[in-house]
Parts: sequence; structure tokens; C-alpha cells
Amino acid sequence: MARRRPRSTRGFRTRWPSGDVPRARDRRGRPRPDRPSGPAGHRPVLLQEVITSLQPAPGQAFIDATLGGGGYARALMERLRPGGVLLGIDRDASALERFAQEPVPPDLTVMLEHTNFAQLDRAAERIGRPPNGIVFDLGLSSVQLDDPDRGFSFQTDGPLDMRLDRSEPWTAADLLNRESESELRRILRDYGQERWGSRIAQRIVERRRRAPFKTTKDLVDVVAGAIPRGAWPRDIHVATRTFQAFRIAVNRELDAIE
Ligand SMILES: C[S@@+](CC[C@H](N)C(=O)[O-])C[C@H]1O[C@@H](n2cnc3c(N)ncnc32)[C@H](O)[C@@H]1O
Repeated sequence: MARRRPRSTRGFRTRWPSGDVPRARDRRGRPRPDRPSGPAGHRPVLLQEVITSLQPAPGQAFIDATLGGGGYARALMERLRPGGVLLGIDRDASALERFAQEPVPPDLTVMLEHTNFAQLDRAAERIGRPPNGIVFDLGLSSVQLDDPDRGFSFQTDGPLDMRLDRSEPWTAADLLNRESESELRRILRDYGQERWGSRIAQRIVERRRRAPFKTTKDLVDVVAGAIPRGAWPRDIHVATRTFQAFRIAVNRELDAIE
């Protein structure tokens, strides 16, 4: 049976100009083959374990279902050449745009697809053969976390956004301004295991009656006011669980995994 060609609305195929994969360098400027580096020099966690267990080899096809800053993808690219194929997927179009700026070796095919990995089957058809391996590195990239405009961080003030895919309409501010108190409570319990969830949900509803939520600081202030000072966690920021819970809800992250 002929395979249906994937309907790719925002995907793009890239055959990059020749060049080499950027690498970290040691103190004398020599490349460190053990340490692929991204533009920001970020070293992704568990990369070595992923490489050791999946053993990507020349000519194989791999999918990086959570491209992010590209740390995994760069390490895979080094091992798939010559003749290999890498499909990089991310919900965040800016991650793909950034990665597309990087050079790619001429003996490798790299494809990028803006999609949710919930649609992995359809995206994988682009490779034209079963992949030898698929990697997932769930959560947020440091690029997303460090950008105040994305609204993921309680450390810096910015718009209360939290969308991984900014083409989607529903932001964290929308969620906080519109959901019922019981739904907010459920989100804080199920996605944040926040034991002060009832109080936080109640304070959110009180606060939005006065003024709608707009910024990350609006939310941090409510959480800090809802949890008694003596009960603030010692090892994490007081708003960590709340931010995690609303990020998971805004992006329906568990739906994608299921
Ligand atoms: C922890 S980062 C990945 C970091 C990456 N492995 C690296 O080496 O830089 C997670 C990435 O997955 C993306 N992501 C999260 N959920 C996704 C989903 N359901 N579908 C596609 N991408 C997703 C996020 O936008 C983010 O860029």
C-alpha cells in the first residue's frame, strides 16, 4: 500500500549548506568531539546515556522528537554520517528556525518539522523508512526558560504566556483569567502536586476580580502571598510547582505523551 504523504502545514525540509557541525573546544582551541555544543554552549542532560543506549551509526535514520537547543540533534548528526537521516521535531517554531541556521555536513539529510510529537507517526513518514531510533527529552529548553518574553520563568518578569507553540491561542494568562476555581485547584494538584493549591486557586480568583493577570510577576506575587512564609520550600522557588502546573496545562503536555 502506498504511504500517505504527510500533510505538513508548517514543516520544511532542509538540505543545509556544507560545513561542519559546531563543536565545543578545549582550552587550546582544539575541538572536543565528546562535547557537542549549541550556540549557547548548553550541554543537554542524559545525552551520553542516550548515545550509549541507542548507538546511532552511519547511514541510519533517527528522529529527535524534542529538538530544543539541538544538543541531542548535533550529537546524533555526528554519528549518522555519512548517509544518515535526522528528522528534528519541535512544537516551538523558533527552536527549528534557530537550528536551521546552523551548518550541516553535506553527507547527511536533515529535515525539520514544526509539529507536536503526538503527530509523530505522520511526521515520521517523511523519512520514508522506519527510524532506527527516536529520542525524547521532555520539558523546556534553557533557551525557552531564559527568555522573559516566553513567560516560563518566575525569576524574571514578562508576559504570562507559557505556550511552547506560540501559534496556539491559549496563554497562561487566559487560563488564569478564565478557568473556574475548581479547575485551577485540579491543575495545581495534578500537575504541580502543590499542597497549597486550594489557597492559590482561591487567591487567583480573588485577584483577577480586581485586575486580570498579565505578567509572570502577577502570578509569583499571588503564590507568595498565598503560601505562609514559614511554609515556603527551602530547595526550590516558592512558585516552582505553580509554574510547572500551569505550563503543563497550557500546553496539554500529558495529552501529547499519552
Ligand atoms: C528539554 S528541551 C529539549 C532539549 C534538547 N534535547 C537539546 O539537546 O537542546 C524540550 C523541547 O521539547 C519541545 N517540546 C515539548 N513538548 C513537545 C511536544 N509535545 N512536541 C514537540 N516538541 C515538544 C519544547 O518546545 C522544547 O524545545
